[in-house]
Amino acid sequence: MVFTVGGIKGGSGKTTIATNLTVLLSKQGFDVLLVDADEQETSTDFTAWREENLQGEIGFTAIKLSGEAVRSQILKLVPKYDHIVIDTGGRDTTSQRAAMTVSDVYLVPFNPRSFDLWTLNKVERLVQEIRAVQATPLTAFAFLNRADPKGTDNNDAAELLQASEVFTYLPTPLINRKAYSNAASQGLGVVEMEAKDPKATTEITKLFEAINPLIVNR
Ligand SMILES: Nc1ncnc2c1ncn2[C@@H]1O[C@H](COP(=O)(O)OP(=O)(O)OP(=O)(O)O)[C@@H](O)[C@H]1O
Ligand SMILES: [Mg+2]
Repeated sequence: MVFTVGGIKGGSGKTTIATNLTVLLSKQGFDVLLVDADEQETSTDFTAWREENLQGEIGFTAIKLSGEAVRSQILKLVPKYDHIVIDTGGRDTTSQRAAMTVSDVYLVPFNPRSFDLWTLNKVERLVQEIRAVQATPLTAFAFLNRADPKGTDNNDAAELLQASEVFTYLPTPLINRKAYSNAASQGLGVVEMEAKDPKATTEITKLFEAINPLIVNR
């Protein structure tokens, strides 16, 4: 299965989701390829920290691709891996479009703030454009990241995402927690931290569990 983590807003949590999904899938015994399709190379940095921390035993393969090569190379790599996770930059780029055309699943985190949510219609149009030209169906999931521990902003944002006819809304938000950035700076998934944050571990596990059956029942 090929997953693209995208959207057209910077800093929404794409790399956090892509790296944690890669770690979780590889921990389940799958042969996983993490593709950095963002010129900022944040997931490449993550892999470098991981190489250093785990003495090379990182548990997955990582490469960097950009532009149209994202599509042509992934098509060649699909038979070689159980799962491919593509991390993209926060803009509507050739790389992100190329990634979407070879993906089964498109994951878009939204922060519950108006600037993020304003991009919803644009991302919906992007998904529709890709669906119009893609041979295989593209399942698109939207969910909240960096959600507030309390307050009404989450509910307002959730209602907006839920109303989307393009995205399937996942009611499994990730709350704004230090554990995510702490884990990332060590090249680890939150489930791998020595001093685990049980809440972060539970919510990231729930998020990915929510994706599984929906893919199967598509
Ligand atoms: N749920 C969360 N709680 C706390 N911090 C988070 C959470 N999700 C992401 N972050 C932090 O927010 C910052 C941006 O996250 P991340 O790099 O994953 O976003 P991105 O969408 O990949 O950004 P870019 O558009 O620059 O590629 C990082 O410092 C990350 O550690
Ligand atoms: Mg990123």
